Amino acid sequence: MDNSAQPQPGAAGDLAGRHIVLGLTGGIACYKSAELCRLLIKQGATVQVVMTEAAEQFITPVTMQALSNRPVYGSQWDAREPNNMPHINLSREADAIVLAPCSADFIARLVHGRSDELLSLLCLARPMQRVPLLVAPAMNREMWLHPATQRNMAQLASDGAVLLGVGSGPQACGETGDGRMLEPAEIVDDLIAHLSPKPLAGQHVLVTAGPTFEAIDPVRGITNLSSGKMGFAIARAAREAGARVTLVAGPVHLATPRGVARVDVRSAQDLLLAVEQHVDAASVFVATAAVADWRPAHAAEQKIKKDGSGQVPALSFVENTDVLARVAQSPRARSGALYCVGFAAESEALLQNAQAKRARKGVPLLVGNIGPATFGQDHNALLLVDEAGARELPHASKLALARQLVAEIATRLS
Ligand code: CTP
Repeated sequence: MDNSAQPQPGAAGDLAGRHIVLGLTGGIACYKSAELCRLLIKQGATVQVVMTEAAEQFITPVTMQALSNRPVYGSQWDAREPNNMPHINLSREADAIVLAPCSADFIARLVHGRSDELLSLLCLARPMQRVPLLVAPAMNREMWLHPATQRNMAQLASDGAVLLGVGSGPQACGETGDGRMLEPAEIVDDLIAHLSPKPLAGQHVLVTAGPTFEAIDPVRGITNLSSGKMGFAIARAAREAGARVTLVAGPVHLATPRGVARVDVRSAQDLLLAVEQHVDAASVFVATAAVADWRPAHAAEQKIKKDGSGQVPALSFVENTDVLARVAQSPRARSGALYCVGFAAESEALLQNAQAKRARKGVPLLVGNIGPATFGQDHNALLLVDEAGARELPHASKLALARQLVAEIATRLS
C-alpha cells in the first residue's frame, strides 16, 4: 500500500499543524482534487473535504474520504454534528478554505452570498479576518472570459477572497485556452505562500541564479555545474515572504516559482544587461548565479572545424564584468536603498575567502556554500558572513536554507 501521502507522526511539512477545508464544486477538474488532497496531507496538513452535489457527479466522496482519511461533508443537515451546525464547526476549525475546483456557478453564488447548501454556507460563515478563502477556478474558456465571470471574480477579490488564477491549454471539452484549474502542486505552493509570514512585504527582490554559457562557436561553449536550485529557492522564499520577485536565470531546467517574474539569459553579458534593466526597481539584490569570470574573446560565427592538421584551436579570453561588485558600488547600494547579498563558491578556506570576497565586492552580507560541492544537490549548508562575524546555517534542504536566509535579510532590512 502506498502510504506516502500520510504524514508521519511528528513529521514536518510546510503545512504541518494546519487544518484545511478543501471544497470541491462541479467540474471535470475534480479528478485533480484527489491529487491536491494527497499533496496537502504530504505537507503535514489535515484535510476536511466538503463537496457540493455537482462535485459528486465527477468524483465520489468515497475516494476523497479514503485520501483525506476523514468522512466527507456534503449536506448542511449532516446529523454527525451534535449541534447540527457543520457550517459553523467546519469553518471555525479551518486555517484556510481552498475551493478547487471552483466552478463559474459557485463563484456567482459566493458573490451573491448564497447559502442554500453546505459549502457556500460555510464560506459565508467563515471568520473573514482569520480564515482565508482561496479560490482555484476551473471552467471552459468562454465561460472564463465571459464578462459575468470576470465581473464576479473582481467582486470576489474585493470581498477579500484570494484568487489563485487559472491555467491555460487544452481543455476537457476539446477547446484550448484559459480556464483550466491550476495544477495541484501550484495550488499547494500558493497556499503555503499565503500562510507564510510577510517580513519582506513592500520589498522588491532581484535574484540571479544558475550558470552562464559563454559561446565558443554556434554549437560549443563554456559553462559550469551550477543547477540554479539555490537561487530558485531564494526567489520562492522571497515571494512567500511577501516580496515582489524578479529572477534572472541562466540556462537551467527548473520550473519558475509561483508568482515570480523570470528573465532567461544565457551569457554573463546577457545577465549583466538583465540585472541593469531591473535593479533600479529592486530594494534587495541576491547574486547566486555562477557567472563565468571569463568569456572567449571571439565567438566564431560558424562551427570551428578540424582541418586535419592535428592542430588544436587556441582560445583567448576576456574578463566578464563582475555584476555583483558593480551593483554593490552603485549609489543606491551605497546609500542603503539597495541591500546586496553575494554568494561564494570556494574549494578551500571558506571563511577567509568569504571574508575577503565580502570586502572585495563591498557587500554587507556574503553567503558561503559549505562544501563538499553542492552543485545540483537539493541540500546544502551555508556560512553567513557579515560585519558581525560568521554564522552557520546547518545542513538542510535548499528551500529551508533559502527561507532562513530570507528571514535573515528581512531582519537586516528592518
Ligand atoms: N558574481 C557576479 N558576476 C561575476 C562573477 C561573480 O555577479 N562576473 C557574483 C556571484 O553571483 C556571487 C559572487 O559574485 O554572488 C561570488 O562569485 P564567485 O564565483 O564565488 O567569486 P568570483 O568573484 O568569481 O571570484 P573567484 O572565482 O576568484 O573566487
